Amino acid sequence: MLQNKHILLGITGGIAAYKCAHLVRLLIKEGAIVKVVMTKSAQEFVTAKTLSVLSKNEVITDFFDANHNWNNHVQLAEWADIILIAPLTANTLAKFANGLCDNIVSACYLSARSKVFVAPAMDLDMYQHPTTKQNIQTLIANGNSIIPAESGELASGLVGEGRMAEPENIISFVKTELQKSLPLANKKVLVNAGPTYEAIDPVRFIGNRSSGKMGVAIADEFAKLGAEVTLVLGPSHQKPKQHQVKVLAVESAQEMLAACESVFQQVDIAVLSAAVADYKPKEVATSKIKKKDAMLSLELIKTDDVLETLGKQKTHQLLVGFALETDNIIEYAQEKIKKKNLDFIVANSAIEQGAGFAVDTNKITIIDKHNKLYNFELKSKQAVAQDIVNFAVDLLKLKK
Ligand code: CTP
Repeated sequence: MLQNKHILLGITGGIAAYKCAHLVRLLIKEGAIVKVVMTKSAQEFVTAKTLSVLSKNEVITDFFDANHNWNNHVQLAEWADIILIAPLTANTLAKFANGLCDNIVSACYLSARSKVFVAPAMDLDMYQHPTTKQNIQTLIANGNSIIPAESGELASGLVGEGRMAEPENIISFVKTELQKSLPLANKKVLVNAGPTYEAIDPVRFIGNRSSGKMGVAIADEFAKLGAEVTLVLGPSHQKPKQHQVKVLAVESAQEMLAACESVFQQVDIAVLSAAVADYKPKEVATSKIKKKDAMLSLELIKTDDVLETLGKQKTHQLLVGFALETDNIIEYAQEKIKKKNLDFIVANSAIEQGAGFAVDTNKITIIDKHNKLYNFELKSKQAVAQDIVNFAVDLLKLKK
């Protein structure tokens, strides 16, 4: 969630500033890129040097640096994807509420274009003062997110509300809020991917050349947009990059169907990209088949069609299938839309250069259920995944 996010951390002068060293470490661990701005009084509690080492960036403490160069607060605020003010003292809170601007932190705040989070920290009576409460309401009304102060022993010795939220809690608050603002927040998605293996005997199977790359990339793209994603994954070396994707590992077509059915009724979107085996051995030998005869015949029977089965169970879901063809691509794909009750299908060629299995690129045509065609250029599978996910998101909006 915070990977590669630009975070501008503004530190003001409260005792809790010492916790910012830990906060910066945690942000860096999350993969964020952190720049710190701090007031003069904040430097009484934590040094700029410490924060510079931890953030791996120069720390800005004034409008001008030691060589009289101007620190452009407008550029700093523009650089930020998120501005986080922690701790926010009663004094700076009052400045923010009234638009005062007498230091680099308040100048960055006033120049903010991004979401601003503030973590108030002050003593019990100050936190409960009506003016403080009013100022907090003003900040909320101005679109800022307040990270609630926590209860505990305060610097004065009083016990109660007013402590800056612990760094771990600040991070989880920010992540939860960001998650909520994503376009697929509260949406659930099922994706299946990879091949299936159909057992012949305990050591052999019938499989196919699917790598699972396309489906895993689709799962990642949905997760980036805030969806809760379940990825039913056949035997594949691919792993989703987004750690919040829940993976259900399966092997056979039968297991793939059971796993997909277990979540299908709860999801809003299902994208079935797996290369499910169409046939499986009628009998699975219980012990290894020995090399006795010159010829060996295997009797195969049809597997269940996962997509078609879900198509029959479809109530509210947006259902998306794939069609991998060698010829008559559009015609066959259109037949599959009808037969499997799909909202759209992603057609691609198994033989065109740069498309299909085991390569990093793909060239697709999306066909909707009204037989309208959308052609896309040859792209990386990640970029193709974005196209498919955007198409699904647009369609989901229209369905509302
Ligand atoms: N599919 C499935 N279960 C199967 C076979 C296919 O869920 N047993 C799904 C695939 O995941 C894909 C779509 O059906 O989304 C089309 O798969 P494809 O292999 O192109 O076509 P088939 O339906 O298997 O038909 P054919 O092999 O005859 O083209």
